[in-house]
Amino acid sequence: MSKNSGKSSAPRGADNHDHLRPPTQVLTRGFDPRLSVGSARPAVFRSSTYVFSSPEAAERAFALASGRAQPLPGEQPELIYSRLNHPNAEILEDQVVPLEAGASRALVFNSGMAAITTALLTFAKPGQAMIYTVPIYGGTQHFIEDVLAPLGVRGRAVAAGDTAALTQAIADTPDLAVILLETPANPTLVMTDIHAAAAAAGRRAPKPVLMVDNTLLGPTFQHPLPCGADLCLYSATKYLSGFSDLIGGMAIAADPELITRIKSLRSLLGNILQPDECWMLDGHLPTVHLRMTRACENAQVIAQALARHPAVAHVHYPTLFRSPEQVKIYRGQCDAPGAMISFEARGGKAAAFDFLRSVRIARDAVSLGGVETLACHPMTTTHSGFTPEAFAQAGVTDGLVRLSIGIEDAADLLADFEHALDQIGAPAPSAATPA
Ligand SMILES: Cc1ncc(COP(=O)(O)O)c(C=O)c1O
Repeated sequence: MSKNSGKSSAPRGADNHDHLRPPTQVLTRGFDPRLSVGSARPAVFRSSTYVFSSPEAAERAFALASGRAQPLPGEQPELIYSRLNHPNAEILEDQVVPLEAGASRALVFNSGMAAITTALLTFAKPGQAMIYTVPIYGGTQHFIEDVLAPLGVRGRAVAAGDTAALTQAIADTPDLAVILLETPANPTLVMTDIHAAAAAAGRRAPKPVLMVDNTLLGPTFQHPLPCGADLCLYSATKYLSGFSDLIGGMAIAADPELITRIKSLRSLLGNILQPDECWMLDGHLPTVHLRMTRACENAQVIAQALARHPAVAHVHYPTLFRSPEQVKIYRGQCDAPGAMISFEARGGKAAAFDFLRSVRIARDAVSLGGVETLACHPMTTTHSGFTPEAFAQAGVTDGLVRLSIGIEDAADLLADFEHALDQIGAPAPSAATPA
């Protein structure tokens, strides 16, 4: 058995994959089968610690890992200990880079929240401020309000999609260290202008770090780095992984220095993704464009059909946006509308619950981005901690249903949804019905 990890030891850039297109690179970069007894796909390396080739190599590995020395061009430091780094993380991090336009380096985490919180803790320090768009994922909002605020980081919320307010806030917030955009926003898919945020951030000195939670449309349909963002953050639990079988996160940047800084905090917090989950995610990654493209094709058909159904008051979906500003942002930063749809059922919560009780193919579950279609009622689940004012600001009404469209046959899904919509208001079947 080869002692080597299987991680390609060729110097970055010299392994000659950079000219290849992303769907090819994701299968060829970062892994050399010759170093793993010829295995065509990476093996899992469950070691917690790694044997050094010499005491000098150990000394060098520690000097590099602690930042006391900088790597020479092409130098591959020896592995130390799996809380810092391990082969399956390295392989996965190399393979995700070509999928994110403009990226140079990535880091894997054991959840999307781990990626977001570690990035925020790296760049937002006590006495500084951060701006974030609302609505934003509930866990992110809790962290900003309940963990960062007591640590002395001032959070300033700006309504998603309000370009003027965001530009103004970026210009006049003192000691601004971080801007975090979640676009599109969950669950109403309101979009925030990444170019405008980047331009405003560029007028500040020192420049704040612009982060985008790209979970809903990336890496296939939205590319924040070429729009001027510094960091893409992901719940890899969703589309990157795509099979609802693991929890993971990613941070991806154009500037490798940002990744180096986040990595040093990841090593202390110990929230790196474990080898087994890296291996699973690495196996799911090459199909992310295929899965997202197919799910998006399904979603476009379904969004249009839902918009025509009499039981549906309104459909939130990018190609159905009515606001000229939202249409402009969508066209300026997205290649396709994606596979998340929200709709308002006529008849409020009772109607939404009737729909959820009646679907047979879609499952009533939170999360999103899997190959299977999921449906949920945000007001009573994902967003249930909101105040009435926050519901109003986020556009979360009691009739709102969120759909994460999967890769099933679109006609089957549509028939399922139309049947479920037709059940709204129908009397519930009695449990005591005689046979
Ligand atoms: C947009 C978004 N960001 C971040 C997260 C957190 O990700 P995780 O559950 O992988 O920690 C989620 C989870 O639903 C999400 O929807």
